[in-house]
Amino acid sequence: MLRRVRPLGGEAVDVLLTDGIIGAWRPAGSTTPDSEGLPPGTTILDTDGLILLPGLVDLHTHLREPGREDAETVESGTRAAALGGYTTVYAMANTTPVADTAGVVEQVWRLGLDAGHCDVRPVGAVTVGLAGQRLAELGAMADSAAGVRVFSDDGHCVSDALLMRRALEYVKAFDGVVAQHAEEPRLTAGAQMNEGEVAARLGLPGWPAVAEEAIIARDALLAGHVGSRLHICHVSTAGSVDIIRWAKAKGWQVTAEVTPHHLLLTDDLVSSFDPVYKVNPPLRTARDVAALREGLADGTIDCVATDHAPHALEDKETEWAAARPGMLGLETALSVVMETMVVGGHLDWAGVAERMALAPARIGGLPCTEGGPGSSIAVGAPATVTLLDPSPRRVVDADALASRSRNTPYAGRSLPGTVRATFLRGRPTVLDGKVV
Ligand code: DOR
Repeated sequence: MLRRVRPLGGEAVDVLLTDGIIGAWRPAGSTTPDSEGLPPGTTILDTDGLILLPGLVDLHTHLREPGREDAETVESGTRAAALGGYTTVYAMANTTPVADTAGVVEQVWRLGLDAGHCDVRPVGAVTVGLAGQRLAELGAMADSAAGVRVFSDDGHCVSDALLMRRALEYVKAFDGVVAQHAEEPRLTAGAQMNEGEVAARLGLPGWPAVAEEAIIARDALLAGHVGSRLHICHVSTAGSVDIIRWAKAKGWQVTAEVTPHHLLLTDDLVSSFDPVYKVNPPLRTARDVAALREGLADGTIDCVATDHAPHALEDKETEWAAARPGMLGLETALSVVMETMVVGGHLDWAGVAERMALAPARIGGLPCTEGGPGSSIAVGAPATVTLLDPSPRRVVDADALASRSRNTPYAGRSLPGTVRATFLRGRPTVLDGKVV
């Protein structure tokens, strides 16, 4: 029993979690250990003032297993996810070997079941070995025990227009979605950071906004032509927001995500030459950040996805040009969204629930209506929920993170909100801010 909790930040109520579902609501504070109708042995948690959200769903997580278990494992990554309030993560396919067969996606799915911290839904590669040459076995991955519905070569763009068209056609058969890493590779060869004033001053080769925008425009046209579902990974520019708005106005099935770091950080941080700020797509300008926040608020961008990208020390703490791109995200995402979207009044908590749980669940093909993860909070819905304490600010301590890697760009930064508990189908995975 959650006593005096605030569903979606609204009025406080007492909420009974029973048999894996949300069993009942009672007037706030009315529940005592001997309240009528309370199943014997019910634990009453004092959740006064905590915000109750549906369990968060991350469409874009790099768990690094198989292959780079020194940077992250399914166990450590999903532990980080639960601490961040997540109950489902989609594990990206750029592992070693690549998740381009039924065998590899089933392996990742089983590792997730064994770890038990949250549901793991593997993403299948679009092309064999992420090489952009031949379509992978999309149907076999869809039919596997892992039931893959999201396909992506993330880290690489499916730059061949014909292959992209074929992939979009193929996934229609099982209502799958192709999640594109939008980066025209000919325009970003050798790029080190956002193309613009800061890059010019630092003398670093630039990654121009048009490299992202050109692919989004092309693929939106293809998705419209084929009548299939396209999802755009980590949108980072103001121009991309405009193009997605246009594609949606056409009625095409185009969805998009933005990362927490692109909602908060800007390219002037690169002046420090600290590789913790190296990420792909790169940090952009304050104008882009403002457009991304606006796009997320008005629904042009459907959801937040972390692009949690752990890297081992030797791959990250090196000179800028040699460092791998990517940042940790799972344990700080909700706090960054609170800082950038809620504190400034762009989103209320229902809006956060939509963008961090319900929309990603729909895009990823989770059963939202019949009570799977991703359902909203209501009596009869699964008790797959997150409890956030919105009041305290905390200073991020990189060494305290559950991830095996340390590449958080927020170390030493104060952020609002702390996840106190996470429940997966009624079972606590995190209680009192600690993994159960
Ligand atoms: O910064 C990034 N890191 N962007 C990507 O697209 C891939 C990711 C990774 O796998 O490290």
